[in-house]
Parts: sequence; structure tokens; C-alpha cells
Amino acid sequence: MDLELPEELRLLQSSVRKFVDETLAPHEKEVEEKDEISRSLIAAMGESGLFGIGHDEKWGGQGFGKLGYCVAVEQAGRVNASFWNVVGATSGLCGTAIELGGPDAVRERYLPDLFSGKKVGAYALSEPGAGSDAGSLKTQAKRDGDAYVIDGAKTFITNAPIAEVFVIFANTDPSKGNKGITAFVVERGTKGLEIGKNDEKMGLHGSTTAQLYFHSMRVPGSQRVGDEGQGFKIALGTLDMGRLGLAAHSVGIAQRLLDASAQYAKSRVQFGKPIATNQAIQWMLADAATEIHAARLMVYDAAARADKGERITQRAAMAKLFATEMLGRVADNAVQVHGGMGYMRELWVERAYRDARITRIYEGTSEVQRMVIAGALLENT
Ligand code: CAA
Repeated sequence: MDLELPEELRLLQSSVRKFVDETLAPHEKEVEEKDEISRSLIAAMGESGLFGIGHDEKWGGQGFGKLGYCVAVEQAGRVNASFWNVVGATSGLCGTAIELGGPDAVRERYLPDLFSGKKVGAYALSEPGAGSDAGSLKTQAKRDGDAYVIDGAKTFITNAPIAEVFVIFANTDPSKGNKGITAFVVERGTKGLEIGKNDEKMGLHGSTTAQLYFHSMRVPGSQRVGDEGQGFKIALGTLDMGRLGLAAHSVGIAQRLLDASAQYAKSRVQFGKPIATNQAIQWMLADAATEIHAARLMVYDAAARADKGERITQRAAMAKLFATEMLGRVADNAVQVHGGMGYMRELWVERAYRDARITRIYEGTSEVQRMVIAGALLENT
């Protein structure tokens, strides 16, 4: 068992790191303050290849597989988390749903633009009454000739204010419960699609979020993703990859917080000596290093298995649960090590602490991950 990254992925790692440090890092404060990522920065991320790293070359991806994807996402954790959020919702969620569900005509129509960052995508599953219990969604799609007429609403949709392409989930046969759910691609500007205002959030400023409303929105049958009734499996299969990416991102953010904490602890002198000489500080750093290492191994293991074609539902949930809970602890201790400075907006650590909070909620709460893990465990016992 070789736990070293192959040469190709080490090269990818250093090129993504260089792009992130040189092109994105100078803008991270401005993104926080304006609550906006400029189109030119999104275009730069597209040109760097960031949107397509883990996706099939056949559809315009870079073909580095899920391990390559995780290696890259980890490096994206070195800057404002909102940058990755735009990419993750576009290719990781919207693109993956189309890639999984097909058919080829829909893949050909949308994936090259999503995987090159030419178009921003969104993934619309959650509803006001269907968050963790996503299978109980109420949006309905009624067949009308060769089209569907869709009514309903979605909530907390990442990228909605700026997205050009939306994958939405609606029920075509409510009598079948989650087996009636069907996925569709909808373009911005479609008659009957209303996009709400950008929601104000605790963190992730720069990454936009809004509600969607569908008012008798007519969608041609040719925009259906997968078969009728397959939508819930497509949604959950997509979330396996989303959760894996979020775990990798959490590892990257935690690593940056640890590096900064260690550096600060060595330079901050109190009682006549650097605070890094205090055992209380050393234990915080040691625990963070240990947990980051464990989370990284979980992420790489799940990703490598996905690349072999294994279904990773349980492992992605484990990696997401462990990595995001770990990030919460590491971010809290990073603020503690930085003391008063850790609480000041002047330093990015305060922002990272707020941004970290959502990772335990979106793409399935920690409690949902435990449901998935326990469900698989009991099924196989
Ligand atoms: N891949 C393919 N099929 C899957 C699957 C997967 N990963 N996981 C489950 N399935 C299948 C099951 O085998 C089952 O199939 P059968 O009925 O044929 O046996 C079917 O899908 C339904 O599965 P469950 O019975 O397990 O479904 P459930 O209703 O009990 O739900 C749940 C389980 C795990 C709680 C699920 O509802 C869930 O994950 N909820 C959380 C939703 C979530 O993460 N939302 C986040 C939205 S996106 C976001 O947050 C980001 C953003 O910005 C948009």
C-alpha cells in the first residue's frame, strides 16, 4: 500500500498552490469586505483549470480523478473559503449531478462550460421544509406534452444569485415519495424562475446564496437529468462527491490555521519567552497536527477508492464528519493561540473561524453523516 502521492499529483499540488497564493490570496480580504468575487477572478479560476480537475476529460474536465480533485481542493483551503465554494457548487455539485445522471446530450450541452468555469452552476435540492430530510421535497414537476411544468421553492442555494445553470430536483410522482424525484437542468432567464436576494450569512462572504421560486416554470423534457424517479439517487450520489470535497477543503483550511498558529506561537513573547514554549500551546498544536493527518488520510483513502469505481457513501460521510468537526476544533484553538489578535477582523483567522462553522451544516449536517455511517454499518452487519 503506497501512501505517497504520485509525481503527477505532486506537480498538480504545487501548481494549484502557486495559483492560489499568487492569484487568489491578494484578493481574499477584498472578497470578504465586498461580499463578492469578481467575474474576472472567477474567469481566472476557470483558466487555471480549477473547475475541471476531478472530472472526465471526455466532458471537458482535466481527468485527475477524485484523488487529484482532493489534492487540489486542499490547496484551495489556503485562501478565503468562498473561492472554493463557487467552484464546488459549480462543478462539484451541479456538474457532478449532470455527469452522473446524463444523458450524453445534456452532458455535452452543459459540462464543458461548467468544467471550464465559463458558466457558474448551482445545485438546488434543499427546500424550506426539506433540509436534512431531502427526500420529502415538495417542488412538483407535472408532465405537459413533451415538457414539465414546475412549481415550488428552494432555499440556501449556493451561487444562485450568479449562476447561469441550475440542477434542480422536483417530484414527478409524489405518490412514490423519494422514488418520484426527478432532476432537471434549468438555465438562468427561464420564464417562471425567480431568484431571491443574496442571503446575509455569518461567514462565507463572497459566496452568494439565495432562494429560488418556480412559478409554473416550463422545462422541456430534453432538460431532464437521468430518468424520471432517479433524481434522489443522483442527488445523493452527487453529495458523496460534494462531501468528499468538503472534507478535503476542511483539511486545507485546518492546515493553514495550524501553520499560522505555530508561526505565531514562536514569535509571540510573553513572560519573557515565546508562547510556543508553553506546554498548553504545544498540546493544542500537537492535537491539531494529529487530527489533520488523520483527516487527510481518510480523504485520500475515500478518493482513491472512488477512483477505483467503489461506492464511497460511507467513507465520504466519515471523512466529512471527521474533517469538519476537526476543523471546528482547530479553528477554535487557532483563535485561542492568537489571543486578542485572533478575535480581530484585521487578521484572517477570525474570518476562517466563522467560515468553518458552516462545514458542519451544509452538504449534510454532522448528524446526517452519522445517520449515513450508521445506516451502512448496520446494513452490512
Ligand atoms: N448514491 C446512490 N444511491 C443512494 C445513495 C448514494 N450515495 N445514498 C442512498 N442511495 C439510495 C438508497 O440505496 C435508496 O435506494 P432504494 O430505495 O432503492 O433502496 C435511496 O437512495 C434512498 O435512500 P435512503 O432510504 O437512505 O433515503 P432517506 O430518505 O432515508 O435519506 C439521508 C437519507 C441520508 C438522510 C438523506 O436524505 C440525506 O443525505 N440528507 C441530507 C441532505 C443534504 O445533504 N443536503 C444538502 C444539500 S446541498 C448543500 O448543502 C450545498 C449547497 O450549497 C447547495
